Amino acid sequence: MGFRSEGLPEWWQWGRKRTTALRYEFCGKDTAYIAVEEPWKVRGGKLTREQKRKIRDKSKGVGDVDTLDLMELIQTRHSTRKFRQQPLEGYLLHQVVEAGRFAPSGGNNQSTRFLVIQDQAALNRLSDICVREFAAMKVGPETYSSLALAIRLSKKGTYRYDYHAPVLILTANKKGYGNCMADCACAVENMMLMAHGLNLGTCWVNQIHWLTDNPAMNAYLRELGMQEDEMVAAGMVLGYPDTEDCLPDRRIVERKGNPVVYVGDSYTTNPVFYALARVVGPAEGEDGGEVIKESLRLEGDQAHILMEAANFVRERMTTKKYIHKLTRLRYDRPEYPMEAVQEIIYNALRHRDYSSNASGIPVTVTMYPDRLIVENPISADRARNFNLANFKHSGIQKVYRAMKKMRLYQPDFCCDERKFTVTLYNDAGKAALEKGMKK
Ligand SMILES: Cc1cc2nc3c(=O)[nH]c(=O)nc-3n(C[C@H](O)[C@H](O)[C@H](O)COP(=O)(O)O)c2cc1C
Repeated sequence: MGFRSEGLPEWWQWGRKRTTALRYEFCGKDTAYIAVEEPWKVRGGKLTREQKRKIRDKSKGVGDVDTLDLMELIQTRHSTRKFRQQPLEGYLLHQVVEAGRFAPSGGNNQSTRFLVIQDQAALNRLSDICVREFAAMKVGPETYSSLALAIRLSKKGTYRYDYHAPVLILTANKKGYGNCMADCACAVENMMLMAHGLNLGTCWVNQIHWLTDNPAMNAYLRELGMQEDEMVAAGMVLGYPDTEDCLPDRRIVERKGNPVVYVGDSYTTNPVFYALARVVGPAEGEDGGEVIKESLRLEGDQAHILMEAANFVRERMTTKKYIHKLTRLRYDRPEYPMEAVQEIIYNALRHRDYSSNASGIPVTVTMYPDRLIVENPISADRARNFNLANFKHSGIQKVYRAMKKMRLYQPDFCCDERKFTVTLYNDAGKAALEKGMKK
């Protein structure tokens, strides 16, 4: 693998400077090296430490969010309707509320107000008002089914809309403001996802909103801090789920509704994909020969394949135990950094050729004893126009950073006229490469 240093300017070399190099092989003929530069190098000139920090912070945006984890978080969130009778730790509650405060709002109004209620007497009083007011209502043929149930149960005296959760968060906004509900709903969804990320349970509760024009409820809400010109648009209960392991339910429930119509963009119009995940190892008895030891066909939408392929690698890679030099604490070091693995699989699925030219050619994820290779078919157009610009937002910097952080060898990115290949080397791969370079 002497190609790494051949013709490669020293300042591009791995680990020496902040600029790193990609091997770029076009149509198997030309080989060139592309610099992937750190933002301040791209801009050139000398920057102050503060300017560098700002650029670094800015470039840590969406590209650094682990998209796989985010999708998993969204897909595994469910309503919790049974809570432990245990007050919520303040730092957890604070994070959930902050997530709500950072939700988008129409015209960036930021006018949603949050009423965070943990006082047991106040929670009981709100519940009592609900029961009393619903019990006084009648169920008609037009009554919304959930409200009809609330009325029936309230009449029986067995209704507890907040599921005895230790925290109730009401989001209120100005009456008559067109985005009142939308802004509050965004805040509630942000809080639900954050809570789920913190292993807490949540459920949207609508009962106080249903009583928007109810004088008894309004009078009490004012005592609690709601303003005269406001209304509660959405409520959410929050707490530790009352499950055996205290964790929220994390099933992924298949989506049967929510049809999607895509207009344009060929890859999204073909929503069923497949990929191959394989383990290749040395063939017994044959010197140097390799055989496929395990092969799994993955089928479904992109998010599903991404998750399954990443899990395939996660479950099969080796993990070594180390003791930290300074802290003496034990820590696990996996064969490959998962964020790099997820990123390259995500990019392979996202950028593969979805035209009929490549139909039947899957994205493949292959684990060898010394390396992991992800390949995807690429359209002739993309191959022809392949250049650094294609990489700009592809998370390649993230892959480099993750490999470097684990002191692994630089990954290979290779493009020929039909496929794009990324290779990650593990410790064995690194040792072999370094040995080869010394020869
Ligand atoms: C606008 C809205 C109002 C809701 N109101 C209530 C409610 O009053 N009580 C309740 O138990 N769940 C309520 N839910 C929760 C839904 O029943 C729940 O999200 C849905 O059944 C899907 O289940 P999941 O949250 O577990 O995915 C509400 C959800 C939304 C979005």
